[in-house]
Amino acid sequence: MASSSFLLLISLLLLLLPFHSDADLHKTRLRQSDLFSESHVSTTADHSTPPTVFFEVTKPIVTPKAKPCSLLVLHHDFAYTYGKPPVLADYTPPSHCSFTKFSKIVLEWKATCRGRQFDRIFGVWLGGVEILRSCTAEPRATGIVWTVQKDITRYNSLLSKNQTLAVYLGNLVDKTYTGIYNVKIHIHFYPEEEGFGGNGVYSEKLGSAYDSDSRADLILPISRNLPLNDGLWFEVQNSTDVQLKEFEIPQNVYRALLEVYVSFHENDEFWYSNLPNDYIVANNLTDTPGNGPFREVLVDLDGDIVAAVWPFTVIYTGGVNPLLWRPISGIGSFNLPSYDIELTPFLGNLLDGKGHSFGFRVTHALNVWFINANLHLWLDDNSVKTEAKLLNHIVSSPSMSQDLNFTGADGTFLTKVTRSVSSAGWVKSSFGTITTLSNQDLSYSNLMMMGNNGSSQTVNQEIHFNSSVYAKQESSHVYSSKTLKTFPLYMYSNTIDQGNGSYRSIANLTLGFNEKKTDGLGSFISSLKNVQNGQGLMVVKGNLVTSGLGSTQQDYRYYDDVQCYSRSISSSNYTILHDNVKNMCGEKQNSSESLRFRRWPIPARRASLDSNLFVNNGHV
Ligand SMILES: *[C@@H]1O[C@H](CO)[C@@H](O)[C@H](O)[C@H]1NC(C)=O
Ligand SMILES: *[C@@H]1O[C@H](CO)[C@@H](O)[C@H](O)[C@H]1NC(C)=O
Ligand SMILES: *[C@@H]1O[C@H](CO)[C@@H](O)[C@H](O)[C@H]1NC(C)=O
Ligand SMILES: *[C@@H]1O[C@H](CO)[C@@H](O)[C@H](O)[C@H]1NC(C)=O
Ligand SMILES: *[C@@H]1O[C@H](CO)[C@@H](O)[C@H](O)[C@H]1NC(C)=O
Ligand SMILES: *[C@@H]1O[C@H](CO)[C@@H](O)[C@H](O)[C@H]1NC(C)=O
Ligand SMILES: *[C@@H]1O[C@H](CO)[C@@H](O)[C@H](O)[C@H]1NC(C)=O
Ligand SMILES: *[C@@H]1O[C@H](CO)[C@@H](O)[C@H](O)[C@H]1NC(C)=O
Ligand SMILES: *[C@@H]1O[C@H](CO)[C@@H](O)[C@H](O)[C@H]1NC(C)=O
Ligand SMILES: *[C@@H]1O[C@H](CO)[C@@H](O)[C@H](O)[C@H]1NC(C)=O
Repeated sequence: MASSSFLLLISLLLLLLPFHSDADLHKTRLRQSDLFSESHVSTTADHSTPPTVFFEVTKPIVTPKAKPCSLLVLHHDFAYTYGKPPVLADYTPPSHCSFTKFSKIVLEWKATCRGRQFDRIFGVWLGGVEILRSCTAEPRATGIVWTVQKDITRYNSLLSKNQTLAVYLGNLVDKTYTGIYNVKIHIHFYPEEEGFGGNGVYSEKLGSAYDSDSRADLILPISRNLPLNDGLWFEVQNSTDVQLKEFEIPQNVYRALLEVYVSFHENDEFWYSNLPNDYIVANNLTDTPGNGPFREVLVDLDGDIVAAVWPFTVIYTGGVNPLLWRPISGIGSFNLPSYDIELTPFLGNLLDGKGHSFGFRVTHALNVWFINANLHLWLDDNSVKTEAKLLNHIVSSPSMSQDLNFTGADGTFLTKVTRSVSSAGWVKSSFGTITTLSNQDLSYSNLMMMGNNGSSQTVNQEIHFNSSVYAKQESSHVYSSKTLKTFPLYMYSNTIDQGNGSYRSIANLTLGFNEKKTDGLGSFISSLKNVQNGQGLMVVKGNLVTSGLGSTQQDYRYYDDVQCYSRSISSSNYTILHDNVKNMCGEKQNSSESLRFRRWPIPARRASLDSNLFVNNGHV
């Protein structure tokens, strides 16, 4: 029957995303009704098979050669933790180290899991400051193991004091979802080494405040307070929801930077593929995530927009087709990017010793977005009070164009948006009067096509996220940096009903995270090009993938003045087909096992910035 087959196809369209929607319902808003009661996967797994190592392709962290001093800060089994308080541990700074100053601090998350489990989002907070947002790997019956290393040197000031460590990983264990995550978190502290990690590179404190390796003197959590039965993130449920946090800063701040952590779940896990509401209504779709494919996270300060974050499209380890992410995980999935926003121009409004508020919201949001932030502050040791004034603050309203063209379930939708936010302000400290200009220029385009009577979807999206900061003293330049990020995404999926309660889905994917940094004069600082391609096939019954195949290819290229790293890798059906690593500038190396960090001569970038500082700011 024609009409019922149409409905069937439409419900298949629902299935396209719902496989994930179901998955993320389990991840965040678990309800008994979402669960399977039956289980036909043997839990008596073969313990003799070694666990599969899952990993995200990323550059190694450059550390000094000296042995680090390491702390085990948490060892915990995350079993039924959903809706429970975060796991807490007392953190005390390392007392057994022979050194008290650190050139590098590295967080290491290592976890194992066996059985069946969904991908779970989790966060790690120290004193309410988020230091890692990540997603678990989905286990196999024979077990998996994975490690995430993150450079957390920028949180140095927190790590030198006693703190409460909080980890929230909402997991659920029952007869079907058997996976328990066994987690160890270590922090490795590396001693200071000559010329390493901002040590002695800048003699001027002001210069160091703007250095990319700079560590704030104070970091305030812009997150929810403990105790909680959940993560410390705020949960933004819809487009009108604004989550507020009151805070107060010391009166001798001379630089402020807000670091925002964002992740999206449930109906917005795949926001970039959400359909326009007109299409949903016209096709009588129910339970299909809508509001179109554009989202922007807005940060308000005392009610005014101060920044926009157009997030990278992280695909979690169960997303699109879980077989794509075994063993190579999706870009950013094990270490979600955070977004830095220069707020120094707004210090003029914040140095009054009074309370202020940040607000987080997401335009067009569906439930749910997990958002919180860290406010990094640099303090003037030589004064109890700095002065500041906001000179200029311009927020363009987003210019959005939408072109919807559909007949029945087939159609083409083009969405384009641009936005800019700029601010300027001066701060008078013991370093003199510095004027800071901060700009964000963003553009977005999304071309979505529905075909095969609504059972296939193609998404072609690109986000351009430019930001720049210029700091100058009188007419001379103190610091400048420009970051150009581009996030390309291509996603094709097609779903075919098998007529017996199962469906077959194919998906092709291209996911890119590119970031180029220059100083304000256009001199190169660093470049990252990171692109993943995936082709997946799966047969799904209920929430279970009953068979399928995933193939992934990734090309990662990073270079700056101290590190060159590239890796070209591909996998299919859990097996690495090729893996070519180059870890030296200009030289070739072909084994991923033999990664050794190398140090290169004095970075040219620093040398030139240094000379700018001296030439232009002799009087600082
Ligand atoms: C698309 O679905 C509609 C509604 O069920 C049906 O009438 C039409 O025949 C289908 N078209 C194709 C090409 O399958
Ligand atoms: C930090 O915690 C340790 C261990 O609990 C305790 O001995 C020490 O006194 C604390 N330090 C401060 C400054 O509170
Ligand atoms: C949006 O979310 C907030 C917070 O959960 C809720 O209070 C409000 O009713 C929601 N608004 C709409 C229109 O659903
Ligand atoms: C949607 O529902 C309305 C009313 O129930 C009906 O008239 C219309 O034909 C339906 N449209 C489709 C595409 O099924
Ligand atoms: C809308 O799509 C149809 C085919 O699906 C095409 O023929 C038509 O030119 C499109 N219209 C516009 C304005 O793009
Ligand atoms: C970002 O910067 C690049 C290089 O300056 C420029 O080509 C591009 O148009 C900018 N994008 C936006 C959205 O401003
Ligand atoms: C469903 O049907 C397809 C094709 O007819 C078949 O290959 C598959 O094994 C069936 N699956 C189940 C679970 O019955
Ligand atoms: C999907 O990927 C396969 C294998 O690379 C390719 O043959 C096919 O053309 C792709 N299809 C689309 C629509 O991207
Ligand atoms: C994947 O690998 C398994 C065992 O390694 C094999 O049994 C299976 O046939 C492979 N699947 C495909 C689609 O190649
Ligand atoms: C690459 O690795 C293979 C096997 O691991 C080895 O035989 C070969 O000599 C290596 N090639 C280079 C250029 O190092």
